[in-house]
Amino acid sequence: MRTLPWLAPLLILAGSACTSPAPPPPPPFQTVATTKELMNAVLDPAVDVIWDAVGTVITTEGTFEKAPASDDDWAAVRASAVLLAESGNLLMIGNRSGGSPEWIAQAQALIDTSRRTIQIIDKKDKDALFTVGGDLYDVCTSCHRQFMPAIVEPRR
Ligand code: HEC
Repeated sequence: MRTLPWLAPLLILAGSACTSPAPPPPPPFQTVATTKELMNAVLDPAVDVIWDAVGTVITTEGTFEKAPASDDDWAAVRASAVLLAESGNLLMIGNRSGGSPEWIAQAQALIDTSRRTIQIIDKKDKDALFTVGGDLYDVCTSCHRQFMPAIVEPRR
């Protein structure tokens, strides 16, 4: 098919209009806490709720299986999983990553595993919640092993 000669300039104009929009400026994120404060104030308490939700409790009275019982219990664990997922984004803003692609990958692993946790909570699957708790632990220690050689494991 032949292109009409008068159409050519119009096509060029249309093409350049498509490639020129300037990207919007990044949102004015402000990092308030140090990474250490973020760990202690956000990540650690959030994952503790998940770790404490299921497991075996041994007392003088006997051995009990612990799990969320009511809808409110499940909602509380879910809120912590949401917080943990979003904290992965917090680890990527400002200068927290120091520009390290490995750091970004670790933060994304935290988001992925937390998202899986949320899905498990939505199914109220106690056994899977126990297992994913271990996966979350691995995400924490994996980043610590790489970026915090002095401490090998997070407090648990
Ligand atoms: C992307 C990397 C990364 C991930 C993921 C990560 N951490 Fe950390 N964490 C760090 C670094 C770096 C430090 C050391 C901060 C410092 O001392 O300045 C730290 C320190 C800590 C500390 C010690 C704080 C102190 O007072 O010395 C705790 C507790 C902690 N993390 C908990 C966790 C838990 C729990 C998770 C998983 C849910 C987690 N972290 C996931 C990077 C990470």
